[in-house]
Amino acid sequence: MAEALFLDIKEFTKRGWGKGDGFEVFGALPGDQIEASKIRRHKAKLQSIIKPAKNRIAPKCKHVGICGGCAFQQLDYKAQLDYKQNKLAELFNQPIQPIIPCDPPFEHRNKMEYTFSQDKAGQKFLGLHMPQAKGRVINLEECHLTSPWFSQTLNAVQTWWGNSDIKAFHPHSGTGTLRTLTLREGKRTGNKMVILTTSSKARDALTKQQIFEFKNLFEKNTSVFLVLHQAVKGHPTQFFEMHLSGPDHIIEELHIKDRILKCKISPLSFFQPNTFQAEKLYAEALTDVSGPVLDLYAGSATLGMLFAPKASQVTSVELSPYSILDAEDNLQLNGINNLKLIRGDVAELLPTLLKSELVIVDPPRPGLGPIACSHLTTLAPQKILYISCNPDTQADDLKRLKDYRITSMQPVDQFPHTPHCENIAHLERI
Ligand SMILES: C[S@@+](CC[C@H](N)C(=O)[O-])C[C@H]1O[C@@H](n2cnc3c(N)ncnc32)[C@H](O)[C@@H]1O
Repeated sequence: MAEALFLDIKEFTKRGWGKGDGFEVFGALPGDQIEASKIRRHKAKLQSIIKPAKNRIAPKCKHVGICGGCAFQQLDYKAQLDYKQNKLAELFNQPIQPIIPCDPPFEHRNKMEYTFSQDKAGQKFLGLHMPQAKGRVINLEECHLTSPWFSQTLNAVQTWWGNSDIKAFHPHSGTGTLRTLTLREGKRTGNKMVILTTSSKARDALTKQQIFEFKNLFEKNTSVFLVLHQAVKGHPTQFFEMHLSGPDHIIEELHIKDRILKCKISPLSFFQPNTFQAEKLYAEALTDVSGPVLDLYAGSATLGMLFAPKASQVTSVELSPYSILDAEDNLQLNGINNLKLIRGDVAELLPTLLKSELVIVDPPRPGLGPIACSHLTTLAPQKILYISCNPDTQADDLKRLKDYRITSMQPVDQFPHTPHCENIAHLERI
């Protein structure tokens, strides 16, 4: 039997677990006194709350404490915002604008990826990962981060799978078929997309009948895709997309100040996961500019299109071919004719790019890194707009950009109930 522990939780770890008396506990909050069972040397599992923290609340979802989708739902939303604000203040040690809350902090996500999994006995699970049990997945019955359509669709796919003999993909052996189910929804438009990702091995392929039954689970106007995931050791992972039914993309709108941007979203291209908070983020990011603008890590060029009417010329750089294809259509949809798209790696391309008045960077979680920062310093734009979904790596990069001072910082809560936070930094060359 696991050793019983009585812990006083004092702080959060970086990933939003409670920490006290040398143990990290998922679901515990600073101020809680808990009983927990030891899992590993510094890790324990919450068993019961002896005395709750003063800002602990009853969560909306029955899966809280087990499901990895939310680390904080049991923490009052105001306290979540305070935690993020204080963390940024500590990290940057300079004035930071009050974080923009997500209102309401539920049903905000426009995309979710659920994993198919089976245990040794063959029991089927489709949902999100359990943070305390590596590799295990919870069979999700409800989720309040998304609109009810996500849970209804998930439940329909669980039933379809339950009635079949299809196997979940097993990452260690590389056998089995079903990998993930991704759902996307335009929050402004109501457009809906379903993407079933499977193994690409012929011996594990779905039959024509199974595919037919899967696509018939959804309404006619839903975009339905099958994506084959090919992972071969020593080669880059490849995805092969098959359009099964409905439109071949969805459209989302972004209402930013007095403009409405139309955005095409294809199965494999990037789009900010919280539409309404992205609108606030982009509105805060927009600054005065009249000269050339570089939009790096551009996705489908949303930021570039936002700046295009003010700028003399915009150049958007993005690695993903899927996002570049959507960006090409977005330029047409929004009547933009002063934006050039370049597909490629930012760190490689930066030395070839022309000097600009403003450089926008919106990198993925690892940040810019030393090479891109060094090239950016050489390019020496007057202003940099640095949008980040990982303030820790943003702080590292800002230390590298020594020729720049921070003129303002604005956090936006894109990810309620998680420790993650989006942060905008406006920089000016000293
Ligand atoms: C956080 S998203 C930002 C997208 C966009 N700015 C937006 O607001 O929708 C980061 C983007 O960077 C792209 N990316 C990742 N690594 C890259 C690289 N080395 N060079 C260029 N783009 C990259 C990803 O494909 C992704 O579209």
